[in-house]
Amino acid sequence: MDAIRIYGGKVLSGQTKIQGSKNASLPILAATLLIDGCCEIENCPDISDVYHMLRLLESLGCRVTRRESGVLVDTRGVKEGDMPSDSVGVMRSSIMLLGALLARTGLVAMEYPGGCVIGKRPIDQHLRALRRMGVEITEGQEGFCARATRLRGAVHELPFVSVGVTENLILAAVLAEGETVIHPAAREPEIQALCEFLIRAGGKISGVGTDCLVVKGVKKLYPVRFYVPADRIVAGTYLSACLCAGGRVFLADAPCGQMQSVIDCAKRMGGRLREMPEGLLVEGKACRSLESRLVTAVYPGFPTDLQSLFMVVMAVSGLGGEIEETVFENRFRIVPELIKLGADIRVRGNRARICMGSRLCNTIVEAKELRGGAALVVAALSAEGTGIVTNRHYIDRGYEDITRSLRELGADIELA
Ligand code: UD1
Repeated sequence: MDAIRIYGGKVLSGQTKIQGSKNASLPILAATLLIDGCCEIENCPDISDVYHMLRLLESLGCRVTRRESGVLVDTRGVKEGDMPSDSVGVMRSSIMLLGALLARTGLVAMEYPGGCVIGKRPIDQHLRALRRMGVEITEGQEGFCARATRLRGAVHELPFVSVGVTENLILAAVLAEGETVIHPAAREPEIQALCEFLIRAGGKISGVGTDCLVVKGVKKLYPVRFYVPADRIVAGTYLSACLCAGGRVFLADAPCGQMQSVIDCAKRMGGRLREMPEGLLVEGKACRSLESRLVTAVYPGFPTDLQSLFMVVMAVSGLGGEIEETVFENRFRIVPELIKLGADIRVRGNRARICMGSRLCNTIVEAKELRGGAALVVAALSAEGTGIVTNRHYIDRGYEDITRSLRELGADIELA
């Protein structure tokens, strides 16, 4: 039902088209709330996180129409309201609605957001920064209430780089009074996409792509049509599948320019990659161990979202390696599952050592979060025998149809 069956040992061959980016779509969908009218978000992926975001928008009074090419969001009926707690509960990005809704209605009551359990993931910095813009926030056990008659621009010197906080502040600042400075701002490509969307709608943002964003508040934004760029993490997932199973795959639309740290790492592990304007060609298996530790970092560093996938590459290839996770403190939840498959991995604090030489054999393993779940599927592709990955719903949060895509790439895989 909620599982995937994988017949391991097949060499990959084929091509698949990389879906639109989850982490770009979610804040852009939240941003439609700032625009009184109808926006068209093209290439918006058909994944459960987007479904939940659309449900939240509907509960706030938006009219949402799904089309083949994307989603239409008509925000003319937006009113104050409670958000359905089941959607807020499952998805951390519901916090993204906070900045946008405050700008639109001045009042938000919501439960603390959920999302993958990959660390503490508090929202303290979101709330602290919004208070600086004139938002009054009352916190309770289960949730909080935020109120602002008028949002004021502010200078934010943030204690560390956060993707979500940067996005929330941009959303709160575009229609605020005066100027907002965000430093250090996250530079992830998804932030650039959000800024491009808002600039096209009439927002004034400078410093896009740098660690210092300056947002000048405007009175009004206008409806636009926007094409969501391809998902660099999904592309990285199928890249790692090829490094594990071997073969030759073409990842159409893969955003190579946004994947340099990952492409570089894959090349150092012996993968042959060709970057093209139409996508990424990947050939061969990982056959060299990395000389140095793989360290996750904010963009343009190696993305934490691909950490478990490259742990799998190190484990199934038998090459081993070392990983240091610097973004989330609890992102090694996949390790006990990989040990069930026969891997020898030792975790100490935020470091993991993947020992050389193990041979992986398929069995039943459990997805515990989105990327870790995808990584287990990738591991099973090149382990011996038939494997099952349970809790598919975690994977469905971010992949349109991972079994279809991997079948297109030649894997023997089906829903179970
Ligand atoms: C986003 C991405 C997620 C990615 C992550 C890091 C989306 C929907 N999700 O998550 O896929 O893995 O960036 O690239 O875009 N923190 C606090 N207090 C806060 C906010 C964050 O302590 O108020 C901490 C977090 O616990 C974490 C670190 O800051 O340790 C970075 O988190 P952040 O960049 O905010 O990640 P998200 O926006 O949640």
